[in-house]
Amino acid sequence: MRFARHLQEHSIHNPFPGIVRLEQKIGRDIITRIGSNESQPLPSPALTTFLGETAVTMASLYPDPYAHDIRRLAAAINLVDESEVIVDSGADSLILLSLRLCCNVGDTVITSAGSYPTFRYFAEGCGQRVVEVSLQSGTDGALQADLGALAFNAHQYKASLVYLANPDNPTGHYHSQTEIERFRQSLPADCVLLLDEAYLEFAEPRHAASPVMDNTLRLRTLSKAYALAGLRVGYAIAPAEAIAKADEIRPQFAVSSLAQQAAILALQAREAAESLLSTTISLREKLRDALLARRLRVLDSHTNFVSIPYPDSQAAEQVQRRLFAMGVAVHRPAHPATSHLIRITAHPAALDEAILDMLIL
Ligand SMILES: Cc1ncc(COP(=O)(O)O)c(C=O)c1O
Repeated sequence: MRFARHLQEHSIHNPFPGIVRLEQKIGRDIITRIGSNESQPLPSPALTTFLGETAVTMASLYPDPYAHDIRRLAAAINLVDESEVIVDSGADSLILLSLRLCCNVGDTVITSAGSYPTFRYFAEGCGQRVVEVSLQSGTDGALQADLGALAFNAHQYKASLVYLANPDNPTGHYHSQTEIERFRQSLPADCVLLLDEAYLEFAEPRHAASPVMDNTLRLRTLSKAYALAGLRVGYAIAPAEAIAKADEIRPQFAVSSLAQQAAILALQAREAAESLLSTTISLREKLRDALLARRLRVLDSHTNFVSIPYPDSQAAEQVQRRLFAMGVAVHRPAHPATSHLIRITAHPAALDEAILDMLIL
């Protein structure tokens, strides 16, 4: 695995590994917690009404820094080993963690022009040079990451990392797992592939296993398929060596105890997750049909949103402004490569006739 230069030969010790690790170390349960300077629960009726007594107590205690239970559940769902999973506060935080883990200041990293912009945002903040590769137009007018050009540029620039959102935001395009494996092979062996799979659960055909690939980090989130965007939980799947090193530099307490508990319950609720998934996919298809019925074009989507391509960014902006005037927020990417798109979430509110009519140019 490629690591940032300063991490290669150096191991960093986590000064606060938490209660679970302490129990593992001493071989027994801790029953009295008076070692972490945690206060008693706040005696606030308003807080107790809001959270409930159990959650108020939980809120007063530091969380498990390694989120052991979430790792175990995520590993089982993805048919990988626990040592190949790391938990952090959302896929966004995992992008940042990956850059800190694998890249030096001044390294070149590659992304697709107009894809998920948070990658560039963090890469610039970490001092990497970002090279953008144009999207490819498919025969049916679809927009998609150009895997050949991404690999070519990775070789050309001796990039330390390539970012690929799959399925992509905002194009909705999905590259099959076979294409992804082939893409991995086409990259320089020491170039990290950062695969952002925030929407993977919505992609078809569905796939059961996520193979752990060399020099590759797969990012997942509970914000989409598990509807926990406000709680900030995500995880990454990567070779155990990468996970162990990432654990050395991750802010230990970034995922709160309440968020962890909610994530555990959400990951255990397989039926609920399946139900949300099929409801969302059916909403996405209804939204697509309603838009097509209004003679709008719609990009094929493997996510929980659909994107409408307008002739140019001015046209898209005009439509967005009309919706803003109604108090309706739809997204238009800022990047010139995708600013002609309007992205709408597959949500019952999106099927409102008045909103749908406003999307007609
Ligand atoms: C491609 C992609 N990655 C990551 C995220 C952020 O995920 P999280 O809420 O887990 O930070 C989003 C959110 O829209 C996204 O579209």
